[in-house]
Amino acid sequence: LGTPIPSQYTLVTRNTFFATEEERRRVQQDTEYNCFAFPSSMLVCDYLSDSGTSAMTDVQWAALMRGDEAYGRNHGYYCMLDSVRQTFEQGDNAKYLVNRVLLNTDVNWILENQQIEGGFVNGGRFQLERPNFFITPQGRGAELLLYSTLHQILLADKPKEWMHSHYVIPSNGFFDTTEAHCHTAGFVPLNMFAAHFHDAFPIADIGKRNPFKGDINVAELEKAIAKYGPERIPFVLMTVTNNTAAGQPVSMQNLIDVHALCHRHGIPVCFDSARFAENAYFIKTYEAGFAERSIQSIVQQMYTLCDVFTMSAKKDGLVNIGGWLCFRDKGLFWQRYSRPGRDVGVALKEKQILSFGNDSYGGLSGRDIMALSVGLSQVVQLAYLHRRVMQSQSMAQRLAQNGVPIVLPPGAHAIYIDTGKFFEGLPMTIGDFGGVGLVIEAIRLYAIRLCELGAFGFEYDQKDDEARKGILDLVRIAIPRNLYNEEHIAYTVAAITELYHNRHLIPKVRITRGAELHLRHFQSGLAP
Ligand code: F0G
Repeated sequence: LGTPIPSQYTLVTRNTFFATEEERRRVQQDTEYNCFAFPSSMLVCDYLSDSGTSAMTDVQWAALMRGDEAYGRNHGYYCMLDSVRQTFEQGDNAKYLVNRVLLNTDVNWILENQQIEGGFVNGGRFQLERPNFFITPQGRGAELLLYSTLHQILLADKPKEWMHSHYVIPSNGFFDTTEAHCHTAGFVPLNMFAAHFHDAFPIADIGKRNPFKGDINVAELEKAIAKYGPERIPFVLMTVTNNTAAGQPVSMQNLIDVHALCHRHGIPVCFDSARFAENAYFIKTYEAGFAERSIQSIVQQMYTLCDVFTMSAKKDGLVNIGGWLCFRDKGLFWQRYSRPGRDVGVALKEKQILSFGNDSYGGLSGRDIMALSVGLSQVVQLAYLHRRVMQSQSMAQRLAQNGVPIVLPPGAHAIYIDTGKFFEGLPMTIGDFGGVGLVIEAIRLYAIRLCELGAFGFEYDQKDDEARKGILDLVRIAIPRNLYNEEHIAYTVAAITELYHNRHLIPKVRITRGAELHLRHFQSGLAP
């Protein structure tokens, strides 16, 4: 038919409030033009983030009712251990789900207490020693545990000069909070975007092929290992998909190459897994040899290639809150950072308890944990992923056809406007924060919230020439999961196209307060 088969329908709806342009303008002024501070109920489309903004499925809502709010080892804890293991290591989480989470009323499955050596969810359900799985409220909680614990192990008793100079962490692309955690803990984050990131990609090829522009530049990584030596590289971080590099996917081949190279040098590999399922969809659809494989088997292969991973479940957990950190039992990460009499997992667990609560809830309610356990099985379903990626590709195709300069091909979770090209030919330089001007005007004129992730967000004015090279100047349209329909996409395409035609009217922006603040995009004041 040349049109996709529908794969879902709507059970609950919410009507949008209506505010006038003048009302929005007034509130913008009162909130210092900081888009994070703009009230969401005055918006029509909110593309600030795809994080925690998903609509949950009916099965997840059903699971919520099974939440157990016990302080110690709640029911959901066991569901989550199994769900994570069955998603990332072995098994079929869909079958497990119905039997265990929704229908199960006996305790026999808990008594099974499988002992699995070498996995991400260590040693069975009752083991207290050698912990390796840590629930956190969200991704940055996992980052906090990871980076601050490594700081203690590697830097706390070292000369002051080692802070921010001795240890480097190469990556295909650090997300902003991840970069901030890395930096705060005294490590130097190094972005190594793929050499082919800037290659042109024809509109006609959208949906037909994918060059995996989220890959790390392996040649650069090799150079860094030669330059610094493995002992100065605590781990290599691979973000799947690569949010900072315009949400582009990472190929299995790249993950294989990075793992082989790092392991040759004894360097652990860490995945930042926020959008692992979307990444697996791209591998299945566009990488040779994976077409016949299930999403789950691709995910499981990907996760043989890392030693430790963080997860923001607010993305591909399909939930509004949740995350975790885990590492391979007795794997390279454990070997490198455990000391005689001091298991690295124990250090992480102490921090988890201090910061987020005990191991079986980690800052989440029992209901959150149930929704997450089920979300993992919903997010790897092919029909869901197909619909998700088709929606993004359809928005990208229409914007690109209308001449709006966006990064091509699109990833899954967002469309990225190339700010430099958007303002090409106009008296607007990167230091004028035109991307922020665009965000301000989209709210005022169309009640659409976008997000600047470029010169302003990544602190162009505060960085030296070398660090400036690591900045891609972009404005992001992040699409919440399962939330918006064709009306939203059509409205957004029309609005952004009109903004592009009127780009000469978009103002330059000054930072009026808090230019020097860390993560300033959440808190500083601006003026067009
Ligand atoms: N890693 C990546 C790749 C992310 O995109 C995010 C969050 C995090 C880690 C942190 O996770 O929010 O649960 O603490 N990204 C959101 C975004 C905020 O809008 O892209 P978190």
